[in-house]
Amino acid sequence: MTHSHFSEFYKKTKVERIKALLDAKVIQIEDALLLFENPALSDQLADNMIENQLTQYSLPLGVALHFLIDNQTYQVPMVTEEPSVIAAASSAAKVIAQAGGFKTHLSERKMIGQVALKDVPNLAFALEELASHKVAILEKANDAHPSIVKRGGGADKVEFRTIPATEHSPTFLVVHVHVNVLEAMGANIVNTMMEAIASFIENLTHGKILMSILSNYATECLATATCQIPLSLLKRGEYSGEEVRDALIEASQFAYADPYRATTHNKGIMNGIDATVLATGNDWRAIEAGAHAYAAKSGQYRSLSVWEKADNGDLKGSLTLPLPIGFVGGSIGIHPTAQFSQRLLSIKSAKELESVIVSVGLAQNFAALRALVTEGIQKGHMGLQARSLAISAGASGNEIEYVATELKKQTHMNLETAVSLLNSFKQMN
Ligand code: MEV
Repeated sequence: MTHSHFSEFYKKTKVERIKALLDAKVIQIEDALLLFENPALSDQLADNMIENQLTQYSLPLGVALHFLIDNQTYQVPMVTEEPSVIAAASSAAKVIAQAGGFKTHLSERKMIGQVALKDVPNLAFALEELASHKVAILEKANDAHPSIVKRGGGADKVEFRTIPATEHSPTFLVVHVHVNVLEAMGANIVNTMMEAIASFIENLTHGKILMSILSNYATECLATATCQIPLSLLKRGEYSGEEVRDALIEASQFAYADPYRATTHNKGIMNGIDATVLATGNDWRAIEAGAHAYAAKSGQYRSLSVWEKADNGDLKGSLTLPLPIGFVGGSIGIHPTAQFSQRLLSIKSAKELESVIVSVGLAQNFAALRALVTEGIQKGHMGLQARSLAISAGASGNEIEYVATELKKQTHMNLETAVSLLNSFKQMN
C-alpha cells in the first residue's frame, strides 16, 4: 500500500511529488528524471505528427490519486487546463475507495465499420444478395488486414441497415462490419477494411458507394463503472449522509429528464474522461462524439450516469459509455508522455485502460454532484482559480501563494482585486 506517501500530496512541491511517487515505487528513476526535464516532443517528432507544424502547445499533466478499481490501486494521469478537475477526481476516488472502490464491466472491444450505399435500385434484392454473401464480405475485409487476424482479431460480424428516406434525405442502405481490433483503437484497421470491401458490395447490390468509414458511435465497445457508497461516507459539513444521497439521486433524475442539465452533467463526466484519454495519447474527439451520441440513444439527450438508492440504503452509482480507446497504435507509441502515462498507470491492456477511464468519469461526476447539492461548485472552483488569477495578475514565485490566499478571503474574487493585492505585497516587501 502506498497511501502514506501520498498524504497531503497537493501541498507538496513538484519535486516532493515526484519523490513521493518514486518512494512509493509507482514510477522508476528514469521517469522521475523525465518529469524533472518536462518532456516535450522533439521538434522532428512534432513536425512528423502533423502538417504545417509551427510550435507545441503545452498543458499540465497531473496525477489523480486513490483510485481503487476492481481491487487494484491506480495513480491516474490527467491532462487538463481546468484547475479543479484533478482535485475533485482524487477526492471522490478517496471516498469511493473507502467504500470498496469501483467495479467495472466491459463489453467486447469491437469497432463498427460502415459502407454506405445510395441509389440502390432494388432494396429487397440487395439485402438478399448481401445476406447470402456475409462470409465473403468478412473474408475480403480480413484479407485487407491480415496482421490483425494473425493476432486473433479481425472482422467477425456483418449487419445491414436500411435508413428510410426523409424530407431531407433519400434512402440509404448501410453495411455494418464489426471488427475486433484487439489493443488498437482501430480506426485505420477498420477504414482499410471498409475501403477494401466497397466495390464488392457495390457489385452485389447494384447501388453506388457513398462512403466507407468507421463509426465513432462505438456501441459494440461499452464500458461500465459502478460504485456503492454508504451514508457514513456521504456526510458533508452540515449535510447528513441521507441528505447528500437523496440530493444526488434528485440531481441524477434532473439530468435524466432535462437536456440542458444533462449536457452540463455529462460535461463534468467528460472533464475526467477526456483528461485521461488525452494523457494516454488517445483520440478524445472520438470519445466525446461517441459519448454524446450514446447519451441521446433514447431519442432524447440524457445523463450518461445514474445515481440511485441501493437496497440497503447506500448510494449506488453507475456510468456506461462507448470507450474505444487504444493501448497501442496511433500516436501512442511515439508520444513520450503517453508512454509515461501508461507506465504511471501500470496497465497492461486496452481493457484495463477502459476500466480506469470509465471509473474516472464516475468519480468526476460524483465530485461535481456532491459539490452542487451541498456547498455549491464555486467554493472549490474559486479556491483553485485563485492561483490562476494571481498568475494572470502578474504574480510569480512566493507572490502567487500570498495573492491566492488573500484572494480567497475576499467577497469578490477578480483580476482587479488580485492586481491590487499583488501591488500591496510588493510594497510590503
Ligand atoms: C465544470 O467543468 C463541470 C460541472 O459543471 C459539472 C456539473 O455541473 O455536473 C461542475
